[in-house]
Amino acid sequence: MVIMGIETSCDETAVAVLQNGKDVLADLVSSQVDLHKKYGGVVPELACRRHIEVIGPLVQEAVEKSGWPLSQLDAISVTVGPGLIGALLVGVSFGKSLSYALKIPLLPVHHLEGHIAAAFIEHPRVVFPAVALVVSGGHTNLYHLSQKGHYRLLGKTIDDAAGEALDKGARMLGLGYPGGPVIDRLAEKGDPDKIPFPRPYRFSGNYDFSFSGLKTALMQVVSRNGRDLGWDDSCYSDVAAGYQTAIVECLVEKTALAVEKEKAKGIILVGGVAANTLLRRRIKEAGGRLGVETYIPSARYCTDNGAMIAMAGVLHYERGHFAPIDVSPDPNIELI
Ligand code: KG4
Ligand code: ZN
Repeated sequence: MVIMGIETSCDETAVAVLQNGKDVLADLVSSQVDLHKKYGGVVPELACRRHIEVIGPLVQEAVEKSGWPLSQLDAISVTVGPGLIGALLVGVSFGKSLSYALKIPLLPVHHLEGHIAAAFIEHPRVVFPAVALVVSGGHTNLYHLSQKGHYRLLGKTIDDAAGEALDKGARMLGLGYPGGPVIDRLAEKGDPDKIPFPRPYRFSGNYDFSFSGLKTALMQVVSRNGRDLGWDDSCYSDVAAGYQTAIVECLVEKTALAVEKEKAKGIILVGGVAANTLLRRRIKEAGGRLGVETYIPSARYCTDNGAMIAMAGVLHYERGHFAPIDVSPDPNIELI
């Protein structure tokens, strides 16, 4: 079975071709980072227009790279939400056209379901039940999975997503966009205990997260010291390390709590922020301490990509869950 995955929910146009749910024949991502950089965040209208320009040639290139003829595809898998409506429309319209022209099923994928499925590309034999921490620029959700494709939401952020907190934090520090990778790099050389940051919502008694207070704490550090008042590189590194560690510890503690209380046997860590060096290390350590398996995709399958959408599509295909030809994207769709 060969499935093409198409992802256009935010600022990456991504297309992949996946064979038998394990062999990635092609996996292309056209990033829009340069387009949005000067605005410090994604501009929806610009994202949408760039998707339109890029998607046709990218599909063509993916077909060529995969060596698999377009006419021999078994299904098209596409992100139907959540995300930016204009951006989603491009992928869904393109996917629909392909599925109609080729007379093959269209598989409707929830973006977070895609992120979770990214773990199954390199780890086909996950032990269940598992707890999945999905951390991206738009979401911070903790799920219980009784098996592949069966999700129960345990908790989520009540304000900012972890990736958003990192991106906005980096912006406050004048470090550019996207902030996650910059903070990751800087923090490696920093002392996380030099500048104390709070651990919001740590004792909330549930599985929810909150990161907006951390942003305020960072703002206070910045205004107390003055961003341009002679900070050297080590100051930036220490602030980045302290801020990042606070976010990571909140994420890991709630995940560990969920593993214990829900009697999970595995931890799945996915989403763009799962590319973070410290988070990956701490989740692995927590898994070791709790005696459960950890499943973390390679960094390229953490950030938005087409392979994860194709992989999630496999689960829909197996259940015969196909989208009707008049399916519309839903920017606010929930994965319950
Ligand atoms: O999953 P993703 O590619 O897109 C969304 O669905 O949002 O996640 C993007 C997020 C951004 O906030 C970005 O800063 C963050 O992932 N990110 C990282 C790293 N790489 C990407 N955060 C921390 N460390 C990284 N290495
Ligand atoms: Zn994503």
